[in-house]
Amino acid sequence: MKLDIILVLDFGGQYCHLIARRIRENHVYSEIVPHDITTREIQSLNERYNVKGLILSGGPQSVYAENAPKIRREILTLGIPVLGLCYGHQLLAYLFGGEVKPAKTKEFGVTYATVVNHDLILEGLGHTEKVWMSHGDTVFAVPEGFEVLAYTENTPVAAFKHRTKPIYGLQWHPEVIHTENGMQMLQNFIFKICGCEPEWSMKGFIGKAVDEMKAIVGDGKAIIALSGGIDSSTATLLAAKALGRNLTAVFVDHGFMRQNEPELIKQTFSEMGFNFVAVDAKNRFIKRLKGVTDPETKRKIIGEEFIRVFEEEAAKIGAEYLIQGTIYPDRIESGFRRFSEKIKTHHNVAGLPTHMRFKAIIEPLRDLYKDEVRTVAEMLGLPKELVHRQPFPGPGLAVRIIGEITEEKISIVKKADLIVREEIEKAGLQESLWQYFAVLTNTKSTGVKGDCRAYGYTVAIRIVESREAMTASFAKIPYGVLERISTRITNEIPQVTRVVYDVTHKPPATIEWE
Ligand code: XMP
Repeated sequence: MKLDIILVLDFGGQYCHLIARRIRENHVYSEIVPHDITTREIQSLNERYNVKGLILSGGPQSVYAENAPKIRREILTLGIPVLGLCYGHQLLAYLFGGEVKPAKTKEFGVTYATVVNHDLILEGLGHTEKVWMSHGDTVFAVPEGFEVLAYTENTPVAAFKHRTKPIYGLQWHPEVIHTENGMQMLQNFIFKICGCEPEWSMKGFIGKAVDEMKAIVGDGKAIIALSGGIDSSTATLLAAKALGRNLTAVFVDHGFMRQNEPELIKQTFSEMGFNFVAVDAKNRFIKRLKGVTDPETKRKIIGEEFIRVFEEEAAKIGAEYLIQGTIYPDRIESGFRRFSEKIKTHHNVAGLPTHMRFKAIIEPLRDLYKDEVRTVAEMLGLPKELVHRQPFPGPGLAVRIIGEITEEKISIVKKADLIVREEIEKAGLQESLWQYFAVLTNTKSTGVKGDCRAYGYTVAIRIVESREAMTASFAKIPYGVLERISTRITNEIPQVTRVVYDVTHKPPATIEWE
């Protein structure tokens, strides 16, 4: 049976993922697609799904700008319901001949909309609705054949609909929680207007993913690089359910794992009904990194060496299929976002090998968001401490040691990292945080220890809140917790004389220091 799907056409707005996630929260599947998707592409998606609705996202441009992104008009002739949000709302008005101009006053933040017609998209809502706006341009007059559904003080056409066709526009953002009844508006669209069935569930997903892997691999052998992170761990359990002993999971210990982590991974995965190989590759990694200080070179060396170790293991096993833990945001970010700049080379242990020959590369989690992966992990019985772990970069602590990596520095950053984890968890703060860790800077500074001058390392503490790691804010955690972290680090790690807290958001900084 095919799932219903709502496509979110991406105009570069920061809320695309949020729209898709809100729809999925209603058990309807949703994907983000390029804004200029063609009718052919929609038809080919229809072979796998029932395309039930199109949502045009917000975006930073003005519809009049020279290179303003547009839709292909022919997609409006398919009879699929369309909902434009913010830029999408203005674009629909513009394309159908309405009047769109810069507003006298830009609206940003909470606004009250007066609803004059509740027809379908606003069904069940009040006369006045608290909505969240962020726009410079405004629709001043609806195109012919359309009617106004709501207005605000500065926006005469804050919501509209076509008189006969299922085409709607909302100037505000229903996906943002500050729009009080935003979920109801999205539900009106997906259920009342598009007629979707709420059939997207993680239980259904597991069954389908297992059947799919069984069908592809048959009696063949598959291999997966298991890092112990949530994505590769979940992909491993899913693959194990499908393939049992025909699966081999390879865990490469590059020596940059956190304290006790290799042991935890071995303990968790070695007796689970599939083949598990742990490779101790610490020496070869540290040897190759000797004298290397440039962060990108470090990342490249670690990535390459990782592939080499993995290839050697794969050759021993003779696996024909490679399974990877790629998840939906990874796929979207590396896929169609055509203009995104490379900021750093991510070595994901799942971003594997380019020149190895496999009959197929299978990515069972390719359609899931992180929170969905967590649900699947829980359903498959992954231990809680692994399900709710903070994300950890493929190159591990190596990107948290600035400058050359040495055995001594690895040992310092491991101890400091453990202290940060223990104190944050003791304070019960972990659930509200995206990541919390220590970085060993290569700055030395003067201190006093036991009445003597000491000249030692500076450790930086990085603690951030985030949803998908694309943006992040430094966390305003209580000073008492920072104080305990700092005191313990300087007391328990003799080489450290100073601890600093990183108070930079992303952007402009990235989460990791390298
Ligand atoms: P940045 O530092 O780019 O990190 O803001 C964003 C998120 O990605 C994690 N990260 C990585 N994850 N391989 C990974 O699998 C990598 O090479 C890598 N580098 C950074 C980082 O911890 C944060 O959650």
